[in-house]
Amino acid sequence: MPLSSRHLLGLQGVPKEDIQLILDTATTFREVLERPVKKVPTLQGKTIVNLFYENSTRTRISFELAQKRLSADSVNFAVSSSSVSKGETFKDTIRNIEAMKVDMVVVRHAAAGTALYLTKLCGSNIINAGDGTHEHPTQALLDMYSIREKLGKLDGLKVCIVGDIAHSRVALSNIFGFKTMGADVSVCGPSTMIPRNIEELGVKVIYNIDEAIKENDVLNILRIQLERKAREYFPSIREYSNYFGITEERLQKNGKDVLILHPGPINRGVEISSEVADGSKQIILQQVTNGVAIRMAVLYLLGTMN
Ligand code: CP
Repeated sequence: MPLSSRHLLGLQGVPKEDIQLILDTATTFREVLERPVKKVPTLQGKTIVNLFYENSTRTRISFELAQKRLSADSVNFAVSSSSVSKGETFKDTIRNIEAMKVDMVVVRHAAAGTALYLTKLCGSNIINAGDGTHEHPTQALLDMYSIREKLGKLDGLKVCIVGDIAHSRVALSNIFGFKTMGADVSVCGPSTMIPRNIEELGVKVIYNIDEAIKENDVLNILRIQLERKAREYFPSIREYSNYFGITEERLQKNGKDVLILHPGPINRGVEISSEVADGSKQIILQQVTNGVAIRMAVLYLLGTMN
């Protein structure tokens, strides 16, 4: 069965069957990544543009690697070296890129809704690589894949997303994705960083990190997004770290064998200590490896629909 949409804009409303198909397809591509020759001819002849209006290390490189592993032709657009600096509008930029006959566009932008807007501007398959504080669907898919790989299931797991929920596109995609897959989802952070009425999405709110550690099987630790003025939502970095930072001492105090995820980039010593970030309970670099397989799966499933 193909996916139910020819775009991946977010995980809100995406059926369980689609998520299952992406995770299962990624398992096949994960095996390709272990081969001496990490390349298959699946998307030969397809042209993909990576349109990054915001900085990225993991998402941009893993999309680019995924495209190369699938034998697609890929082109990278960096806003700083483009004609945007001469005043060209977003709409004109997109129309000019599409005039060069591209098949798929991967887009990251600071404005929520950019990926959806692109679907109105051009006929290519659109993949959201992060739109403002809205969604980051491939991050949530790789999080789900990594947990399923480690713990063997998603259904019934207790997953808590910790930190700056209000500014996080990872949080929203995690909530939609994990809930669809049957996980029991909660959020934990300072009250100033928990959106009002978030319970309406079917998540529990926990304000005490020790309680969150005791109650959950998985903690997904979010970065404090200093570039989005997150610093204004608590008195000091030290205070945030004291109340919500994940340290080995805190994990041991609560006597819980909890799995630690972090989407990266990490603020060491702020939301997570180096000891935990490099320790035995975390799967942060496995998440990054699995991200290539997830992005290969998404590109393959969308790219072979047309
Ligand atoms: N997790 C994530 O989106 O990282 P980048 O911003 O480096 O892509």
